[in-house]
Amino acid sequence: MADRTTLTTTAGAPVGDNQNSLSAGRHGPLLLQDYQLIEKLAHQNRERIPERVVHAKGWGAFGQLTITNDISRYTNARVFAQVGKKTDLLIRFSTVAGEQGAADAERDVRGFAIKFYTEEGNWDLVGNNTPVFFVRDPLKFPDFIRTQKRHPRTNMRSPTAMWDFWSLSPESLHQVTILFSDRGLPIGPQFMNGYGSHTYSFWNDAGERYWVKFHFKTQQGHRHYTNEESVGVIGHTRESYQEALFGGIERGEYPRWNMFVQIMPETDVGKTPYDPFDLTKVWPHGDYPLIEVGVVELNRNPDNYFAEIEQAAFSPSNIVRGIGFSPDKMLQGRIFSYADAHRHRLGTHYEALPVNAPRCPVHHYHKDGAMRFFRNDTGNPDAYYEPNSFGGPVEDRKFLEPPLRISGEAMRYDHREGNDDYSQPRALFHLFDDAQRYRLFRNLAAAMQGVPQHIVDRQIGHFEKIDPAYAAGVRAALAEGSGFEDARDTQPPAFEPAE
Ligand code: NDP
Ligand code: HEM
Repeated sequence: MADRTTLTTTAGAPVGDNQNSLSAGRHGPLLLQDYQLIEKLAHQNRERIPERVVHAKGWGAFGQLTITNDISRYTNARVFAQVGKKTDLLIRFSTVAGEQGAADAERDVRGFAIKFYTEEGNWDLVGNNTPVFFVRDPLKFPDFIRTQKRHPRTNMRSPTAMWDFWSLSPESLHQVTILFSDRGLPIGPQFMNGYGSHTYSFWNDAGERYWVKFHFKTQQGHRHYTNEESVGVIGHTRESYQEALFGGIERGEYPRWNMFVQIMPETDVGKTPYDPFDLTKVWPHGDYPLIEVGVVELNRNPDNYFAEIEQAAFSPSNIVRGIGFSPDKMLQGRIFSYADAHRHRLGTHYEALPVNAPRCPVHHYHKDGAMRFFRNDTGNPDAYYEPNSFGGPVEDRKFLEPPLRISGEAMRYDHREGNDDYSQPRALFHLFDDAQRYRLFRNLAAAMQGVPQHIVDRQIGHFEKIDPAYAAGVRAALAEGSGFEDARDTQPPAFEPAE
């Protein structure tokens, strides 16, 4: 045993016996003074932290962004400073509704959260695999999530709650159409796009602001399961995404995404037929083309899942010089929500954990609290407040964002008033070929099983406004009793898009 390190207690005392508890006599009872047993049981009781209230099940890996095109005229963010520049990053993918033990191959929106470790602080782009979202006002987010989680009495998920909420919230139609299309069930994290989803802003050294959207297009191609295939996958393994991502990277198959931005001049606001800050809308590529930025590659698995993925804390409030927010109300809500969640889930000093710690110098005056294990004395014990005369860190106005032009009276504005919730889902519906539409109808019908008829009728009324063929297709799939038959085995009916 000479070459093995000696086991110790957490206080460093060498352990003489890690197999047998300390008992009074051969049979016991055990002695309270067996502090080694107590330490072991006590630590086990504290091994779990609260799971994320949403996006609890996730898979992650490390890699880099490499810049391939110069966009520095729009932003002075260091990450985009020159072609060829590489920035380390972490991506955590996730499902939204399932708990930590949920099966991976479930139909759900996928989280696509990126932490860029830039030389001027961490930039977190906490997006999804969809360019839009179900609601456009953060006041509705907790209600929406309630419909995705378990019913308080049955403790089961409730299709009635989901369709009741969606049918009463037509702004959800765009995201609902994506969720029940093929892209609602990718076969693994590598085979889907990522989107920053919100409108953010870029600003440059001249103090000019541009509105921006971020896109990450998979180089692996889009691959999806049908409902029927996913039942087979889940019966075989609940961890299909972990196997695909972790296994792929171990084998040297490094997934890649091409990064793009869409840029809107600041003064275009008010000139588009859609609100550019409405998270239920995209900016059509015809209006604002994709501009190449770089390539993201994932090439290193975490050494410890809990330390590096479970303890990872992403927040839309983590922006860096050259990147700003926008008046998107959902983004505004999220700026508060995430750091608050992290302080609850991980503790006050969550950003000092190695996976969250910036890869640049950090100098702040936040002080004590639980787990204050890191050095933060600003280099001089007398400089513990600001302003001070003792050389403590100070602000630098070159990092100050240009002023954001806003106007208007404070009021609870009706976000549904004058809003067109149908045109963009229609554009998407018209992109699908016959087979894709047929699977969409059957996926929707399968998800509506058992939902009261008046709720189904209300939802079909919305599909009717997108396109009468959309409503007719769902009606026909419902009448067929569509469920978990494999949509690929059945001949799709001919489809005539509405004018
Ligand atoms: P384009 O024809 O220029 O682009 C269509 C977009 O749709 C592509 O980005 C494509 O992604 C994506 N797409 C294809 N199938 C699906 C699907 N099942 N679910 C989600 N996205 C899909 O069209 P427009 O820009 O004019 O937009 C038309 C519609 O396309 C929009 O109303 C929106 O629903 C959808 N869309 C638009 C995006 C945008 O930023 N403009 C982004 C994503 C979707 P890919 O290139 O990877 O195949
Ligand atoms: C996770 C809140 C909308 C993507 C979370 C978490 C909270 C939250 C509290 C858990 C954070 C944690 O414990 O670490 C909200 C609120 C929203 C909102 C209040 C709306 C007002 C969105 C939108 C997107 C999104 C629109 C995508 C465009 C994610 C992702 C995660 C997440 C990807 C998981 C991050 C990770 O991997 O750790 N959200 N969310 N959320 N959210 Fe949201």
